[in-house]
Amino acid sequence: MTGGNAGSSCPSNSDAVASARPIANAKGVRVEGRVDSPIPVLVDPLQIQEVLMHLVKNAFEATSKGNVRIRIEDRGEFHAILVSDTGKGIPPDVMPNLFQPFYTTKAGSGGIGLGLLQSKHIATGHGGTIDVTSEPGKGSTFTVFLPRRRSNEDPSRR
Ligand SMILES: Nc1ncnc2c1ncn2[C@@H]1O[C@H](COP(=O)(O)OP(=O)(O)O)[C@@H](O)[C@H]1O
Ligand SMILES: [Mg+2]
Repeated sequence: MTGGNAGSSCPSNSDAVASARPIANAKGVRVEGRVDSPIPVLVDPLQIQEVLMHLVKNAFEATSKGNVRIRIEDRGEFHAILVSDTGKGIPPDVMPNLFQPFYTTKAGSGGIGLGLLQSKHIATGHGGTIDVTSEPGKGSTFTVFLPRRRSNEDPSRR
C-alpha cells in the first residue's frame, strides 16, 4: 500500500502537466491543469504521480489536435483527480475490459495493457477507486477518487 512516502500531501499536478508538455506540443494537443491549493490528502506521492502519468499518457494516445485536461474537484468524502481528453473515446465493447490485465487495443503500437490495472490497484490501495466515462468520438474522463482521510483513522477524531 503506501510506502516510505506515505503521509505526504498529494503532489501538485503541475509536475505531471509540465512533464507532459513537450510531447503535447509535438502532437499539437493542448494540455491544461489547475490546482488552486495543495490537496490535504494522505497519499504516496510517487504512486499517485504514476497513476497520473498512466492516465495522461493514455489521454494523449487517444487524442490528436485536441485537449487533455487535469483538474481536482471536491467530491465530499473524496478528492477527485480528473483526467479528461477530447480524443476518440471508448467504444462500449471496450469499456468492460479496460482494467483487465494485458487488455490493450494498442498491441500494434507497443501497448501492453497494464497501465489502467496498475492505476486501479494504486487507487484502491489508497482506499479510493477509478471511474470512467466516455463518449465515442468525443472523448473520455478518468476520475481518481482519493478519500479525504485514511480508512485506518479513528472516525471519532474527525
Ligand atoms: N483516454 C482513453 N481514451 C480511449 N481509450 C482509452 C483511454 N485510456 C485507456 N483506453 C483504452 O484502454 C486500454 C487499456 O489501457 P492501458 O491499461 O493503459 O493499456 P495500454 O495503454 O498499454 O493499451 C487501451 O488500450 C485503450 O483501448
Ligand atoms: Mg496505457
